[in-house]
Amino acid sequence: MPRRLAFINYKGGVGKTSLIVNVAACLAQKGKRVLLVDLDTQSNSSIWLMRIERWNKMNMERRGSLYSIFEPGNDRLKDILVKDVLQDNKGTPLLPGLDLLPTTFNLIDLENEYQINPQNPHYLIFSEQMREIQDDYDFVLFDCPPNILNASQCGIYSADELYVPSNPDALSLIGFTLMIEKLLLFYRRSAGFRTPEMGHFARVAGVIFNSIKANVDIGVPKMRMQLRLNQFKKQRLVSNEAKIYNTCIRDATVVRRAVTLGLPVCLVDSRDAQEGVGKDYDDLAEEILAHSVMESAAGSANNRVANAS
Ligand SMILES: Nc1ncnc2c1ncn2[C@@H]1O[C@H](COP(=O)(O)OP(=O)(O)OP(=O)(O)O)[C@@H](O)[C@H]1O
Ligand SMILES: [Mg+2]
Repeated sequence: MPRRLAFINYKGGVGKTSLIVNVAACLAQKGKRVLLVDLDTQSNSSIWLMRIERWNKMNMERRGSLYSIFEPGNDRLKDILVKDVLQDNKGTPLLPGLDLLPTTFNLIDLENEYQINPQNPHYLIFSEQMREIQDDYDFVLFDCPPNILNASQCGIYSADELYVPSNPDALSLIGFTLMIEKLLLFYRRSAGFRTPEMGHFARVAGVIFNSIKANVDIGVPKMRMQLRLNQFKKQRLVSNEAKIYNTCIRDATVVRRAVTLGLPVCLVDSRDAQEGVGKDYDDLAEEILAHSVMESAAGSANNRVANAS
């Protein structure tokens, strides 16, 4: 079984996509087989990794991306996989082992146009198709938009662990709180579809602070976040092992430059990879490797849903 991680916060722009792309790349560099799933209609991680020309073609054709499994529904996830997504101009893989399930702008139609079958909802269709491919990977990473609407629900339903990227500000904390509320609502609504072999609902594994400016003390926002985590732990809304990650990602221009170049930071600049923000991403990947909430017994989210119903 792979580890399946969703990166989500109800606050937008906190760094979900940049964290997931760079952590995915670091894990692939360590020899892990990684599948990144883009669940955001903005398609930021798809555009970043495929680069704009290749992605544009897919967007114009309106097929071969995630929404195709729902409408017209002839594709399955295994048909739309982009293997070894990072390539140079000649098509030579730059980072073997990093695959992508790409998204295009039509994923927005999953929120409105798509007629959900109440007996076979979108997240069930998605998770059943994920099971056909996920065992080929060590890690499946879901890049979610800042909400728990239909597209996000696909990732959350299929994930085991939730990671909450945050900036050291009050709005990220509010986003986290709102996310937990919405998560519970979704778990209650979808509980009837869960079979024992699907395992527990995804639990919050931790909070990651991102975009930390030099010489800025984040002690207070960290303490506030820790208090909120403790409160949710008492209410059994997050895993007992959930923590604020020791690794914080510094604010660095190279992160934005990497997007323009269509590369993860580790392939942009070797100095950055060794001592700059690239090292932060690598440390974070190591910390994620060392800290899994998967093995723990009966899920706290499950208990909470059971208590609530
Ligand atoms: N550590 C960092 N240093 C500098 N810039 C960063 C850093 N992390 C993210 N950014 C920049 O902040 C912006 C938002 O980041 P990103 O797109 O990763 O956030 P997001 O949470 O995925 O946003 P959305 O909610 O829209 O999906 C981007 O322009 C990105 O390049
Ligand atoms: Mg994003």
